[in-house]
Amino acid sequence: MTHDAQQLAEESLTRRVLASFAGTPDDRLREVMQSLVTHLHAFIRDVRLTEAEWQAGIDFLTGCGHITDDRRQEFILLSDVLGASMQTITVANPVDGRITESTVFGPFFVEDSPRIPLGGDIAGGAPGQPCWVQGRVTDVAGNPVPGARVEVWEADEDGFYDVQYGDERVAGRAHLFTDDDGRYRFWGLTPTPYPIPHDGPVGRMLAAVNRSPVRAAHLHFMVTAPGLRTLVTHIFVEGDPQLAAGDSVFGVKDSLISAFDVQPAGTPTPDGRDLGGRDWARAEFDIVLAPADA
Ligand code: BEZ
Ligand code: FE
Repeated sequence: MTHDAQQLAEESLTRRVLASFAGTPDDRLREVMQSLVTHLHAFIRDVRLTEAEWQAGIDFLTGCGHITDDRRQEFILLSDVLGASMQTITVANPVDGRITESTVFGPFFVEDSPRIPLGGDIAGGAPGQPCWVQGRVTDVAGNPVPGARVEVWEADEDGFYDVQYGDERVAGRAHLFTDDDGRYRFWGLTPTPYPIPHDGPVGRMLAAVNRSPVRAAHLHFMVTAPGLRTLVTHIFVEGDPQLAAGDSVFGVKDSLISAFDVQPAGTPTPDGRDLGGRDWARAEFDIVLAPADA
């Protein structure tokens, strides 16, 4: 077969597949499916995908399916390490210097976390350096947002979320509500870097391409308030060497890096809590929410 004939055969197949979606009644579904086919065919032709490589891809996705259950979502991990989760978030949240930036949700959020009062402790016995976190939630005009629900969750100093222990513990997570001035404050743990689950197909893929599964140290936030857009984000730890080494799911944004100032043992705490001679840290994170319809 000549080069031209080969090219015609490949292009004609793509055109026929595209045409098979032409009758899709829903305009958006048709647009998404036809674009997917266009890019998928272009990828296969670009890398000259072999049949063995195609089969390896099918086996990989099958493996992702087999390890996925109520507690483990390998397809989201795959989306995360490919940067697809962050690209979707980036497209959905246009850059606006006034609004706190969003980042990846991750698989470790749990509904119905314990409610704590302002100044309460989210650790629930999880090991780590105590860390006082405070800030203020406002709208883009600078008005305080009272009664905003602030959900926070994080790994312990060993790099594990409570749900990864396989027992019923609830630790390193809670929610609280901002006061009349939009302010919040709580005790958490100074975040430390930890690896995303890497004992499955995604971990093997990362190893094959010589990539680390480690995430930069972070504390998760989800902030909701009536009439304002829900914010899903993290704060990262200034000076964490993993920031330079790279976050395995591409979640870092410069505006989300905060100082976690370590206070020597014996430094009075903001609420008078006695930490029994331990050092502790403090961080400040002000949050600006977009209007719901922005
Ligand atoms: C997390 O930060 O909890 C997370 C995000 C993406 C993949 C795995 C974990
Ligand atoms: Fe996390």
